Amino acid sequence: MTRDVAGIGLGLRYDLATELLERTPKSIAWLEIHPENYLDRGGRYQEMLELAREDWPIITHGLSSCLGSVEPFDARYLKELGTFLKDLEIPWHSEHLCLGGADGRFFHDLLPLPFTEEAAAIASQRLIEMRDAIGIPLALENASYYAPQGPDGLAEADFVVEVLERTDAKLLLDVNNVYVNGRNFDFDPRLYIDKIPMERVVQLHVAGHFVRDDEVRIDTHGEPVPDEVYELLDYTLRKTGPVPVLLERDNNIPPLDELLSEVDELWTIYRRATGVGNAP
Ligand SMILES: [Fe+2]
Repeated sequence: MTRDVAGIGLGLRYDLATELLERTPKSIAWLEIHPENYLDRGGRYQEMLELAREDWPIITHGLSSCLGSVEPFDARYLKELGTFLKDLEIPWHSEHLCLGGADGRFFHDLLPLPFTEEAAAIASQRLIEMRDAIGIPLALENASYYAPQGPDGLAEADFVVEVLERTDAKLLLDVNNVYVNGRNFDFDPRLYIDKIPMERVVQLHVAGHFVRDDEVRIDTHGEPVPDEVYELLDYTLRKTGPVPVLLERDNNIPPLDELLSEVDELWTIYRRATGVGNAP
C-alpha cells in the first residue's frame, strides 16, 4: 500500500535531520531520501528514517543506477533496493537519465548521454530491466549537462520523450535542470516543457544553481531558488496540476528557517498554479 504524496517536500539530509525531526514543520508535506544512504546501514541513518516516517510520507530518489549506463546492473543490489522500497510503501522510485560509469568504474557524477536513438534504446532497455527487478513504478529524471551535443542528435526534450514512449515510464521533471540547460545551450525552457507529455509527470524538482563569471550556470543545489526557476515552476505546475514538488538543497545548506521560507514561497506558487494545497 502506498501513501498519497502531494505538495512541497524537502530532502532528508544529514545536516538538517536533527532539527527537522525535532521541529517537524507542518509546511513540509513529505520527504525525499536517497536509498544509497540507508541500504546496508544502521545507526543514525536508520534512526533518522524511522523517525521521519512517523511524520511524513517518503519518496525515494536514486543516485547510482544511472539509466543510460551500459554496465550491467548488480542483481543483488536491485533485489535489496526493491525490498527496501516496498517496505517504505513509496508510490514510485526515480533515477537519472544519464551515464554514471564505464569500464567498471563509477564516476560519482551524472554524466551526459548523447541524445541519439541508440542511447535512447539502451536507456529504455535498462529502465525496463530495473523496473522489472524492483517491482515498483520507475520515473526517470532529466539531468543537467555541460558538454555540447554532436550535430546528429535529438533535442534534449525529444530525447526524454523518446525514452518515455519506449518505456511507458513516469517522469520526475527537474525544472531547474531544464532552466540551466536552456540558458547554457540557448533554448527556451518553456518550449522544452511544452513538449513533455504531462500525464507522465509524477514529481517536480526545483533548486538553485551557481552562475559563473562567464554566465555558465552550474547545477549545484547550493543556492536559493532564483526567480526565473520559480517562474518556470509556475508555468509547469499550470500544466501538470498538483504533483509533488521537491526543494533540492544538497550543498551550502543554510539554517532550516531559510529553507522553510523557500518552502513557503513554493506553497504560494503551488496554490496559485494548481488551485489546491493547504496553507502551511
Ligand atoms: Fe533533481
